[in-house]
Amino acid sequence: MRSVAVFIGTRPEAIKMAPVVEALRADDRFRPIVVATGQHREMLHQVLDLFEIEPDHDLAVMQPGQTLASLTGRLVTAIDEVLEQDPPDLSLVQGDTTTAFVGGLASFYRGIRVGHVEAGLRTDDLMTPFPEEGNRRLVGRITSVHFAPTTGARQNLLREGVDPETVVVTGNTVIDALFRQLELQRSRNRTSALLEALTADLGFSPEAKPYVLVTGHRRENFGAGFEEICGALSELSRRFEDHTFVYPVHLNPRVQGPVHETLGDRPNVKLIAPRSYEEFLVLMQHCRVVLTDSGGVQEEAPSLGKPVLVMRENTERPEGVEAGTVRLVGADRDRIVAAVEELLVDEDAYAEMARAENPYGDGKASQRIVEELARILG
Ligand code: UD1
Ligand code: UDP
Repeated sequence: MRSVAVFIGTRPEAIKMAPVVEALRADDRFRPIVVATGQHREMLHQVLDLFEIEPDHDLAVMQPGQTLASLTGRLVTAIDEVLEQDPPDLSLVQGDTTTAFVGGLASFYRGIRVGHVEAGLRTDDLMTPFPEEGNRRLVGRITSVHFAPTTGARQNLLREGVDPETVVVTGNTVIDALFRQLELQRSRNRTSALLEALTADLGFSPEAKPYVLVTGHRRENFGAGFEEICGALSELSRRFEDHTFVYPVHLNPRVQGPVHETLGDRPNVKLIAPRSYEEFLVLMQHCRVVLTDSGGVQEEAPSLGKPVLVMRENTERPEGVEAGTVRLVGADRDRIVAAVEELLVDEDAYAEMARAENPYGDGKASQRIVEELARILG
């Protein structure tokens, strides 16, 4: 039996690694070792609880307002101790977070092979998103097997001289997580309980009133970018009093501060706590438009047929833009207002973007990852 360490630090890593952990657990060729670094706390445990993942190691490193360097320092020591106690045959890291970078680096230092899930995403601008573009390039240099979600991601790696034999196109595991949760919602009849829980917090049922769903947390938007985003939401909430702007606010104090300060008194802006993944999916299913700077949300919303406006100048996920369901609007007040307004008033423009597309996968990415691991680990 081969042991595979699965590193999980933040909310999106937990969502995207949960199906991989499930697939490894279901396969008696493998023993998964789940290492929760605790880069996130509440937002991580929300997901681990939902997917019923009990970590084998819980490093609980998060500190409020942590800097990138202090987090990296704490993580490299804590992860090295785990690798010494419980050395795996291979380490799997996901995406572009500090956990992914340090999980990869500490494994590399111990001569443990690294598998990179969601490999090959690039904006080709080192500073956006920051520091994620740097993290994923760094992980890519010390990776033995690259699990690229799309053929475009594979091409990016080949362009950088990565050996094609080490790249496998799998689809994105976020679609596995999404399909799995939608299926559970149906089979467990969870929908009405989830709608009730959301109604209690929002003051209206997501089925009953039109709303725009907002998320925003990127570091490069801190400061001026968030002023623009909040300014746009404030203006939109005045122009569209018949709509609500539902914003589950990321727990980072650099996000909480400006968002509550600027939008806290707008009656039709609902600033709510981060939702569990199953509640967030219900919010996505019923909203009119998604306004976000998130990576994962850009991948999920097209599968649900929701138009996505991305508050960034570029994206490492061009497939949604090419499919016509995602548009880049920058962290720019006027462009955000104009783009949301167009979708809310122009039915043709709306219909043009609101098409269900699955450019990021078919729900079987985790299975492909596990089969490749079986092949290379023998
Ligand atoms: C991190 C990732 C980012 C990812 C995002 C997902 C890095 C460098 N950044 O950014 O790529 O898109 O997670 O959400 O890895 N906090 C809490 N409770 C939580 C989570 C966060 O209080 O459950 C607060 C803490 O004050 C913490 C701060 O948020 O110090 C920042 O967390 P951190 O993981 O350093 O950065 P994110 O901005 O969340
Ligand atoms: N998400 C969630 N609850 C929320 C907001 C988002 O479960 O209140 C999910 C969302 O569906 C997506 C993931 O969190 O799968 C995205 O995480 P985040 O935006 O924090 O990080 P990113 O994807 O930008 O790295």
